[in-house]
Amino acid sequence: MAYRFCTLLAFGTAAFGLNAVQPRPPKPEAINVVELPLPPVAPSSDEGACTATINPRRTGCIGISVGNFQAGDFTPDGKHVIANVEFVGAPAAPDPASIYTGSHLILIKADGAKFSNGDPWKCLSCGVPAQNAISLDAVRDYPHVFRSGTKALWGHNILDCGGVDLTSDRCTPNRTSIYPIHWPTTADGSGAGGVPREMRLHPDDVHMGWSSFTNYGGQFAYFGRLQFNPNPTVGLPLAPRYDLVNVSVLVDGSGKAPISASGGELHINRDAIMVGELRGFSGAGDEILYIGPSWESSNIDLFAVHVVTGAVRRLTSHPDYADPIAFSHDNQWFVTMDTRVSERQMWMAAMRWVPPLVDIVAVTVASSTRNNRDRRFFQPILIDRDGDRGDYYGQQVNAGGDGSPGSVNDPNWNGRADPAFSPDGTKITYWQALVVSPACGGENPLPCPVSSAQGGRSYRVMLARLTGRKAKQPAKVLKVPEYIPWAVPFPPGATVPSQYKLPAGDYILRGSVSGTANVTLTADPTTFSGIGGVAVVYNNYSDQAGYVLNGHEQVSVKILLPNVWDNLIDWNSDLKETGVVNATKRTSAGDFHLQINAVTNIFNANGTLTTTVDGVEYNQPANGT
Ligand SMILES: *[C@@H]1O[C@H](CO)[C@@H](O)[C@H](O)[C@H]1NC(C)=O
Ligand SMILES: *[C@@H]1O[C@H](CO)[C@@H](O)[C@H](O)[C@H]1NC(C)=O
Ligand SMILES: *[C@@H]1O[C@H](CO)[C@@H](O)[C@H](O)[C@H]1NC(C)=O
Ligand SMILES: *[C@@H]1O[C@H](CO)[C@@H](O)[C@H](O)[C@H]1NC(C)=O
Ligand SMILES: *[C@@H]1O[C@H](CO)[C@@H](O)[C@H](O)[C@H]1NC(C)=O
Ligand SMILES: *[C@@H]1O[C@H](CO)[C@@H](O)[C@H](O)[C@H]1NC(C)=O
Repeated sequence: MAYRFCTLLAFGTAAFGLNAVQPRPPKPEAINVVELPLPPVAPSSDEGACTATINPRRTGCIGISVGNFQAGDFTPDGKHVIANVEFVGAPAAPDPASIYTGSHLILIKADGAKFSNGDPWKCLSCGVPAQNAISLDAVRDYPHVFRSGTKALWGHNILDCGGVDLTSDRCTPNRTSIYPIHWPTTADGSGAGGVPREMRLHPDDVHMGWSSFTNYGGQFAYFGRLQFNPNPTVGLPLAPRYDLVNVSVLVDGSGKAPISASGGELHINRDAIMVGELRGFSGAGDEILYIGPSWESSNIDLFAVHVVTGAVRRLTSHPDYADPIAFSHDNQWFVTMDTRVSERQMWMAAMRWVPPLVDIVAVTVASSTRNNRDRRFFQPILIDRDGDRGDYYGQQVNAGGDGSPGSVNDPNWNGRADPAFSPDGTKITYWQALVVSPACGGENPLPCPVSSAQGGRSYRVMLARLTGRKAKQPAKVLKVPEYIPWAVPFPPGATVPSQYKLPAGDYILRGSVSGTANVTLTADPTTFSGIGGVAVVYNNYSDQAGYVLNGHEQVSVKILLPNVWDNLIDWNSDLKETGVVNATKRTSAGDFHLQINAVTNIFNANGTLTTTVDGVEYNQPANGT
């Protein structure tokens, strides 16, 4: 799932005013949320546990725990949602029900109707003959329906119903083929190729965006075209497959970095393009959505960059953490999974308009504290295309509810990736997982809740109807260029371009409104950025009218090798902000020390870091929570 960019590539740019002319934010609207059906839960994964009593039609049972479950988006008619489920408890072959075992792609009804066999779901990948699915890839995440409605992206595979709509009775296993996706990265095309992750399809159904880790704890994003290769002669697997061709690596071809140094001064370049982790495309396919370099310290946000012009827009600015995102097909709205309802990140990010300087060493930590293991603090937030601005921070999609166990706004049900709009823009689907041990129970002060979902299942798919809305036409999809003009071509055999590195030294950063920051960057060759420490003294510093900073902050990082994801930071802050607000950001005597792994996200700190805004105090989570 969304581990996020865990990289020192992703340091940021400073905060400036909002765009010149901002449309008036929308008013809150009526939203009605219901749960969608899934196959029944089997009491265990033992062979035959999915009995005829549990499923009389013998069309499979799913597991009680989330496993590799993931729900995706709608079919073109807006009446079905695609999901990857884990079928368990099937009887042994040759029982016809034996095909309902393991990871499979299903459609579920989103309109209360049933498929012709009487089920509210239908398996798309079960029973597909082996010769139609040679070398199926094991990665089966982020299910997505092509806009054509006849194919689906299923992790590193494409399921194709031979021109027939996936929802149709005519889309049978015999008619279905499943092809792996291959990314050639060696000059001669040999080998298994690159390892893409978090693949997202462009609305033209032909281009693809994805991310891929480096082996030193960094990540780059890529864009390319899917090309069917019925009979490959080189590269693995040697089976009918889709190749990714004419690939670009999504770094700023001009070499501009989010923060640069010259003549003893630091410069924050908020127009620099740095795709920390690719999250998808706008509804018209004219923008790439991504998690980008922070514009404000410890405040991780979503951005959009225009595919052709390279113009960057900041979509979210709430101090909390945003990550999964989907646009409406009319391009006017997006829905994001964000921690803002829980205020999880306010202890480090609530003081606004602090430039992202300590982030040079602390961004990985700031992005890692958003979760506690598998406990996500995400809820779906509906925001118009112009994003957070002024006092407008969107609308929680699932706010209507009494907060009781199992209700639509029960905070123990955590939003997961990805949400989606129906093509006509009148509905949103998203899925959630219930917090489970060890993120609750035992040593953890949070007691483990009991699931009220069918069979005690710890995951559920939700449908939100935007009841006041009329159906909208999709926006015209941009015809994208073969190569992204501002990016860097990445043909087979290429290596990622070397990135600008800030030299260690003493610098001045000038506030765009007033004041200066004296900044000292300390070298550490064991970190990817080459910087191990940042010390800042603010003097009447302001990037945003009405927010003036004074005080100092000093943060250093150690990467706990050999694990490149494991960070230890030592943090000292005594910041004061005056003007529109009175705020402080302070560490306790002896400073704040946090060790956290960017993959497992278990909070382990000594000392405290506390942000107070107009008398409201935001405290860090307790260790292990
Ligand atoms: C699939 O095709 C095979 C062989 O052509 C046939 O025996 C089988 O009945 C078909 N299955 C279905 C579900 O149509
Ligand atoms: C894009 O890829 C195709 C192979 O599918 C190749 O023939 C073509 O030359 C490439 N385009 C460019 C601009 O290189
Ligand atoms: C401090 O900054 C404010 C604006 O942010 C400005 O009005 C004021 O003159 C500055 N004070 C000094 C001493 O520079
Ligand atoms: C900040 O840097 C300037 C220019 O080097 C220097 O004059 C000033 O004393 C420094 N201030 C602090 C607080 O270090
Ligand atoms: C901030 O504190 C000052 C001094 O105590 C006070 O005059 C001002 O009203 C406060 N501002 C806000 C927004 O509370
Ligand atoms: C916290 O303090 C304990 C005891 O001194 C020490 O073992 C641990 O490593 C410290 N953890 C961090 C993150 O500093």
